[in-house]
Amino acid sequence: MESHSTYVPKSGFAKWFESRLPVAGLVHSSFIAFPVPRNLNYFWTFGAILMFMLIAQIVTGIVLVMHYTPEATKAFASVEHIMRDVNYGWLLRYLHANGASMFFIAVYIHIARGLYYGSYKAPREVLWILGVIIFLLMMATAFMGYVLPWGQMSFWGATVITNLFGAFPVIGDPIVTWLWGGYAVDNPTLNRFFSLHYLLPFMILGVVVLHVWALHHVGQNNPTGVEVKSVKKDTLPFTPYATVKDAFAVVCFFIFFAWFVFYIPNYLGHADNYIEANAAVTPAHIVPEWYFLPFYAILRAIPSKLGGVIAMFGSIAILAFLPWLDTSRVRSSTYRPLYKQFFWVFIACVIGLGYLGGAPAEGGYVIAARILTAYYFAHFLIVLPLLGLFETPKPLPNSIAESVLDGHGHGGPALATGATAAPDRKS
Ligand code: HEM
Repeated sequence: MESHSTYVPKSGFAKWFESRLPVAGLVHSSFIAFPVPRNLNYFWTFGAILMFMLIAQIVTGIVLVMHYTPEATKAFASVEHIMRDVNYGWLLRYLHANGASMFFIAVYIHIARGLYYGSYKAPREVLWILGVIIFLLMMATAFMGYVLPWGQMSFWGATVITNLFGAFPVIGDPIVTWLWGGYAVDNPTLNRFFSLHYLLPFMILGVVVLHVWALHHVGQNNPTGVEVKSVKKDTLPFTPYATVKDAFAVVCFFIFFAWFVFYIPNYLGHADNYIEANAAVTPAHIVPEWYFLPFYAILRAIPSKLGGVIAMFGSIAILAFLPWLDTSRVRSSTYRPLYKQFFWVFIACVIGLGYLGGAPAEGGYVIAARILTAYYFAHFLIVLPLLGLFETPKPLPNSIAESVLDGHGHGGPALATGATAAPDRKS
């Protein structure tokens, strides 16, 4: 799928420059001439939405840092200063704080799209694994960012999560002391979290470049899961088709984002984080941000602390093995009647875990979390390997163009060019 550049430099300078650094040709082949399957639905716009969110977080973050003080006795007050005194400081902070949540909403939809349409399957394994690495980096960034306002939830969240590393025998305690830079969460912890919170988004950006590079090398999957056979019949050029659709989706997503920022800016946050960190007062309930709740439920579901930590990290790491755990030859759920149902059961399981992660760790809640944790792992280790062996997939269309003509396409533009060449199998 590579090298679709038909870029011809027009001016003399462009010719001179292009023969020395062919960046315009690269942009042209990647974002103008790049062939995209013509049947992509709106779930394929979330990559662009994520790019937008990443840039928005970096820009708002850089400006926030101009007014924030990463020092334990001053951090909380500096955030209040941003909210009250800095021109549009409240807007910057609400954009950045709600932006983190929006980023996770978008990434969860992006991952679910991959799961539903089998985008992780060969030849997109590396693309997928790079995605899992991005997801881990995002979680680390969000976790450390939440500590910076130095509120009660910042402090106690950091204390609970860093303490988890103490579960490892022998090396556990030294690791925790090393992470803290002392014997409790304190100023050195805040300093290093600040430093890493600034660094990691740029690492994410680097991995995103690899992610998009891998994507452009293997080409996009599509709702049928059938590979592009004819560039002429099955694809459309990225610009204007994907560019305009992505831009429209980004605007819609931004309106949703703005609704949170301007109407309910604290809805996704926790009131206790408006109380300054106090090592002598433990909040009644220490709960992480909503996007961590399913993993927090898995952590608390296992009676042993070490077991909980391993299960929590394992629940993310297992995603990296997905391309080999799913044994089906067919990618898209559209043609996998059984997998389609298990997909929704899995989504319900993750939402259920999210609910339980926010509930107190007692009685029936713990039992329910144990059942759902077992199911979460069973989905990957039992359901997916077996389904591929026993499920009878529906017949696949011969090509993307054929599926569009058959009316099985999902909202792709009508065949505007080259339509006549595709066989019409209307039934
Ligand atoms: C900062 C976060 C991320 C950014 C900016 C990003 C960006 C993109 C973009 C621009 C695309 C192409 C458009 C699209 O298919 O939506 C894409 C595709 C893809 N991404 Fe991501 N991504 C991110 C995170 C992830 C994560 C966490 C995963 C999985 C764990 C993932 C897995 C995939 C896969 C499998 C594809 C190919 C989809 C297909 O062609 O069907 N991405 N990504």
